[in-house]
Amino acid sequence: MVVYSPGRANLIGEHTDYNNGFILPFAIKRYVKIEIEPSKKFRVFSEQIKKGIEFNTLEKTNSWADYVIGMIVKLKEHGYDVKPFNMKIDSNLPMGAGLSSSAALEVGAGYAILSMMNYDINREELAKIAHECEVEFVGVRCGIMDQYAVALSKENHALFIDTMTREYKYIPFHLDSARIYLVDSGIKHELGSSEYNKRRKQCELALEAMGKKSFREVTMDDVEKLIEPVLKKRALHVITENERVLKTLSALETENLQLVGRYLYESHYSLKDNYEVSCEEIDFMIEQFEEYADIYGARIVGAGFGGSVIVLANENFERIFEKVSQKYTTKFGIIPKLLTVETSDGVFRLE
Ligand code: GLA
Repeated sequence: MVVYSPGRANLIGEHTDYNNGFILPFAIKRYVKIEIEPSKKFRVFSEQIKKGIEFNTLEKTNSWADYVIGMIVKLKEHGYDVKPFNMKIDSNLPMGAGLSSSAALEVGAGYAILSMMNYDINREELAKIAHECEVEFVGVRCGIMDQYAVALSKENHALFIDTMTREYKYIPFHLDSARIYLVDSGIKHELGSSEYNKRRKQCELALEAMGKKSFREVTMDDVEKLIEPVLKKRALHVITENERVLKTLSALETENLQLVGRYLYESHYSLKDNYEVSCEEIDFMIEQFEEYADIYGARIVGAGFGGSVIVLANENFERIFEKVSQKYTTKFGIIPKLLTVETSDGVFRLE
């Protein structure tokens, strides 16, 4: 059996998923491919690095295999029987590009294991278990976006999630002549996880200082009263980003792409100036994009500190990208990569 587990992008709603906020991710047609068959021992092999690992005990290895081992541990904790298997992993999803290759592996491994064991799969539960794997086993305190997007997305739709209630609905993409592109900046977001946890902490401190339990109760007046400038900036990002997600939903409904684009740029500048999770290279790219009317909007995507940029533009974008790419390479000595985006269903299998 072969399982395909997609990467994800996020139209808008960044760093809101661990703040009881709104998000609008979607899966993309770039996959982690997982082949599984029953075996006497647990064996996991990565086609990309041509390395395998064999194990009997379910202990942390501090390697990529932890995404699989963690899923076994968590599935068992949730009462699922997991028998040993041979698993082969391949991928055309760039790693460290902010497109959730780790969530794709977790959700995909879980889906493959449950399928092999003949369980009916509840996608929400699978997303939840994969999220527990990332937070409790791997040890990154991420929000729910990546695992939910990989498990629940639907082709031609974005997935609107209220992360407070975890209710979600599918939003059709009416883009007409426009397209979504992703540009891999070539900057790996390694700094990410420590700074990521720092941002989470600052959001908790901001809430505490405002005397609130959740960002959903926070108003602009509350934010204005914050004294500590850093906490104020973080809170400002969260509440304005939530508003932008809701405004983007309305703009998508009326097919007003100029407006969607404007919110993407606004989101970028809030991530850059208030949340401080962008980087020089991506800021340069965005400034270049702003010069062109064919580009409706763009912003850094995912955790930040590198990774990818999401762009909403018309078909002239590929030509524009050539020019911007040259300038970028001259300045930074890095070649950015353009990925044309097609939306995908969440994880699925082929017999
Ligand atoms: C990472 C995390 C997500 C989310 C984004 C930022 O991708 O895994 O949960 O917090 O960063 O929006």
